[in-house]
Amino acid sequence: MGRHVLTIEDCSRKEILALFERATVLKRETRAGKPHLTLAGKTLAMIFEKPSTRTRLSFEVGMFQLGGHAIHLASSTSQLERGETYSDTARVMSRYVDGILIRTFHQQSVVDMAQATTIPIINGLTDRSHPCQVLTDLFTVVENFGVERLLRDGKIAYVGDGNNMANSWIEAALVLGFPLAIATPQGYEPDAELLQRITAGSHRHISIGHDPQAAVRDAIVVNTDTWVSMGQEGERTAQKKEYFAPFQVNRALMQLAHREAIVLHCLPAHREEEITSEVMDGPQSRIFDQAENRLHLQKALLEQLMAR
Ligand code: CP
Ligand code: NVA
Repeated sequence: MGRHVLTIEDCSRKEILALFERATVLKRETRAGKPHLTLAGKTLAMIFEKPSTRTRLSFEVGMFQLGGHAIHLASSTSQLERGETYSDTARVMSRYVDGILIRTFHQQSVVDMAQATTIPIINGLTDRSHPCQVLTDLFTVVENFGVERLLRDGKIAYVGDGNNMANSWIEAALVLGFPLAIATPQGYEPDAELLQRITAGSHRHISIGHDPQAAVRDAIVVNTDTWVSMGQEGERTAQKKEYFAPFQVNRALMQLAHREAIVLHCLPAHREEEITSEVMDGPQSRIFDQAENRLHLQKALLEQLMAR
């Protein structure tokens, strides 16, 4: 793995499979009470320029469980707020800490940090991508179906907004090669550069369209996300809800999926918008396992990046 995880494409297939193996061990052994002090003496700084519950908690608890320390830096109380550049901030922080997790708006900000420093930069969500979440989601798929099924024929569907989650799913499919079907409303497609790469390359295992029923048909994983991402709050309008309504993950849509299909959502969810409570709390949902898995998968990631 390169020192930074700015998108899923910073990880090779081999490294991702190693993450699943290590996360499986960490999950089992931590539950059994075995300590893993592999990051003793290491510090992770965590910058949040957007809200977070899961990312903040899972990284902080993860560092603690690995014997290290995490420091939360709210952007509103740091000099970033007053215009200090991301590059200068990273250069200074690298004199104190062993890794930086950042949640911010522009992908270029995490790129600037990575270019300015040799300590690992981990993208904890940008407008463009959410790699730690999709690595976790893949781990959750592997827990349920095994790695062979994911890599061989495990069709994954994503329906809803073509946002950071959709982009990271595309990147994961580019690295691992599993069949991915994305359906978004017109005008809400994933990142244009990614779409261009799919069209230009021979990536027939990835389909991007506007038909949620076609996307979900026979999928073993049905995945969705909020229709209004952080920073777009002004778009939470009645018209948008109506436009997105055909993309709701509900009982009727789930009936088209494979009979063993599981449902994922990175959370936070807006119940009765992108997903019904019936599905979210139903037997096919792995949404809360998925939330727990942030902890285990990211501990494996922190070890890969920082245990040297
Ligand atoms: N899924 C996710 O990243 O959750 P938070 O926004 O709570 O960190
Ligand atoms: N697409 C969502 C993901 C939240 C974890 C957002 O960016 O708000």
